[in-house]
Amino acid sequence: MCMKTALITGITGQDGSYLSEFLLAKGYDVHGIIRRSSVDYRERIAHLEGTPHFHLHYGDMSDSMGLVQIVGKVRPDEIYNLAAQSHVQVSFDSPEYTADCDATGVLRILEAVRQNGLEHSCRIYQASTSELYGKVEQVPQDEQTPFHPYSPYAVAKLYGYWIVKEYREAYDMFCCSGILFNHESERRGETFVTRKITLAAARIAQGKQTKLYLGNLSSLRDWGYAKDYVECMWLILQNKRPEDFVIATGVQHSVREFCELAFQYAGIHLRWEGEGKDEKGICVSVSDNLRDMDLVGKVLVEVSSDFYRPTDVVNLWGNPAKAKRELGWNPAKTSFEDLVKLMVESDMEKVRNEVILGHARTNLAEYLEKGIVK
Ligand code: NAP
Ligand code: GDD
Repeated sequence: MCMKTALITGITGQDGSYLSEFLLAKGYDVHGIIRRSSVDYRERIAHLEGTPHFHLHYGDMSDSMGLVQIVGKVRPDEIYNLAAQSHVQVSFDSPEYTADCDATGVLRILEAVRQNGLEHSCRIYQASTSELYGKVEQVPQDEQTPFHPYSPYAVAKLYGYWIVKEYREAYDMFCCSGILFNHESERRGETFVTRKITLAAARIAQGKQTKLYLGNLSSLRDWGYAKDYVECMWLILQNKRPEDFVIATGVQHSVREFCELAFQYAGIHLRWEGEGKDEKGICVSVSDNLRDMDLVGKVLVEVSSDFYRPTDVVNLWGNPAKAKRELGWNPAKTSFEDLVKLMVESDMEKVRNEVILGHARTNLAEYLEKGIVK
């Protein structure tokens, strides 16, 4: 069998790293685009570098000339366009950059394929998002639910969704959007709410942090496991027809519930008191191994308006029936409980060994003292 070639933008991200592993295991020749940076932060793919059939190219979603060159050199059978400024809150601070990368960037990829004459041989997956539903008009959400984007990030991604549809119809290209609901993992960026919580729970349980500050605790999400979701990206490109799919678990939980369960797996039982910005998570009991830590009765979780958004999406809940029926994808592979558990266990281990990424390193003095930053 002839080896297929895939090009992944955003290969250093959470999904890019899992997708690389998935495609390499399927026998693909995998190429990825990385950004030049003054620090080497390729932790998620470090284990793959140097292995056969894994290749990296410097490029940027804002640089069309570079993208045209890479696509021309690699001549991929499949492109997975995962690169994005993916943080919703950050998109309020950097709206123009977010639009350039997340909206025009998609157009640049489509044009790079066309300009290299690959429009009828190369299939393209676009990382679309449940954020398109935004200020939701229907629950649960499926492929027919109207969009109502509610952040600069979502508005940029809406352009990406429509330009993909336009190129599919105008040029008969096999390009599709996966409308993915939130998916998390041990490799999730540390400022997304789930990882922020599991990291804090692990640090508090090990005496390295005293409190966790969060924003809207009542926000509802449909959280799945990233490793399960990358399989779906691949399935979407193996489908007979180019079509868009909602990828979700069909199960919804609040930020508060995620937090409660994560602390529980770290050995800390929380009780909630107060409402809105005055709500607090108080430690009511701890597991035996944490008895001497003096946590009982302490406020461990507080709400801070710093983490409120100018407009917040509060009710995401996906209906994955089409993906289940037409792609044979199993949305129930990893339960919510298993997801929270595996993230907490991973962070307990990482905190123990102090191998966490940048954002958790708030106390430089502590790190200097321990000899981690020289
Ligand atoms: P992520 O961890 O934030 O990774 C984003 C990737 O994009 C990183 O590799 C990043 O490179 C790269 N990137 C950012 N700006 C770039 C630019 N200007 N040029 C080239 N590369 C750039 O995101 P993720 O969670 O893996 O998500 C992957 C994609 O799915 C994103 O498009 C996201 O919007 C979308 N999505 C995610 C979810 C989710 O719940 N995870 C749900 C729906 C849709 P650096 O490492 O250099 O920063
Ligand atoms: N990040 C963060 N930090 N979010 C918080 C916090 C906090 O301290 N406290 C409460 N939240 C709430 C947010 O207001 C939001 O309603 C929810 O938790 C989830 O926030 P994030 O984890 O930052 O994810 P997101 O849903 O905004 O965006 C993620 O999922 C999208 C798919 O729906 C990202 O991965 C996007 O790239 C993706 O498109």
